[in-house]
Amino acid sequence: MTLKEMKSLNLKRNERMDVDYIKGILQPTPTCAIWDKIWNFQAKSDDLLISTYPKAGTTWTQEIVDMIQNDGNIEKCKRAPTHLRFPFIEWRISSKDCGLDQANAMPSPRTLKTHLPIQLLPPSFLEKGCKIIYVARNAKDNLVSYYHFQKMNAALPDPGTWKEYFEDFLDGKVCWGSWYDHVKGWWDAKDKYPILYLFYEDMKKHPKCEIRKIMEFMGKNLDEDVLDKIMHHTSFDIMKKNPMANYTTISEEIMDQSVSPFMRKGAVGDWKNHFTVAQNERFDEDYKKKMMNTSLTFCSNL
Ligand code: A3P
Repeated sequence: MTLKEMKSLNLKRNERMDVDYIKGILQPTPTCAIWDKIWNFQAKSDDLLISTYPKAGTTWTQEIVDMIQNDGNIEKCKRAPTHLRFPFIEWRISSKDCGLDQANAMPSPRTLKTHLPIQLLPPSFLEKGCKIIYVARNAKDNLVSYYHFQKMNAALPDPGTWKEYFEDFLDGKVCWGSWYDHVKGWWDAKDKYPILYLFYEDMKKHPKCEIRKIMEFMGKNLDEDVLDKIMHHTSFDIMKKNPMANYTTISEEIMDQSVSPFMRKGAVGDWKNHFTVAQNERFDEDYKKKMMNTSLTFCSNL
């Protein structure tokens, strides 16, 4: 989006997108404006959906999936930037930049992206039995990553200070809502629907094993050397340098990578560089309460 287009949206440099609630979940206002259309989106049975809470490893998973779909052909995966290869169904910052329109115009088989919590997912995905890959990341690193992302991304609200953002995240007062409800909601759905539930930390620890899981879920069968190639091409260092995967094609007025690069650290445990001792204690106590009613567990250190 150009600065002129941002101005026509009342989104000037240093200004941020407004947000509103959809059934209790914060969303940028352009998404709220077409919510009925999003809710009524018609998925097709051969759609593959990549679902995540923001900053849980979406882009990484998208690159892995594309490499698997294209049998490890790097040039094919460089055909377009991530956001054009994978329509982000609820994303809309202007009439020209609308995930829903992009998805509707795309030939099948489509691979789509969402950050919606399960209760806001357009029902047709589950009705049509679409395969869904869900990736979850431990809350502490997810929080840190989201904070830096909101600082650099004018299409989301200004995160305020680290101290303020920390409280907003715990309260679920961030776009796409509570991390806790999101990961638990999708966890509960995974046994009822074709959902592959993955963890960012496992992908860091055993990338090849997780890539193989994704491949099998997609019904593909690739040789070991292709899997090795996929692992290399989707490593953090390679993706950071890949303009088709690092969001550097997005204008600086929207994503200012000098504030924080999209490919920031790609690590497990970076939260230790941000949390104070008091914040960590408060976080752990609150976490226990919010996560006591689930069998879902995370690791925040490798
Ligand atoms: P950090 O901010 O902690 O570095 P999403 O794609 O869901 O927006 O998630 C972005 C986060 O995933 C960022 O985390 C980014 O660096 C990280 N990431 C992207 N590609 C990665 C890769 N290949 N390996 C590890 N982390 C990756």
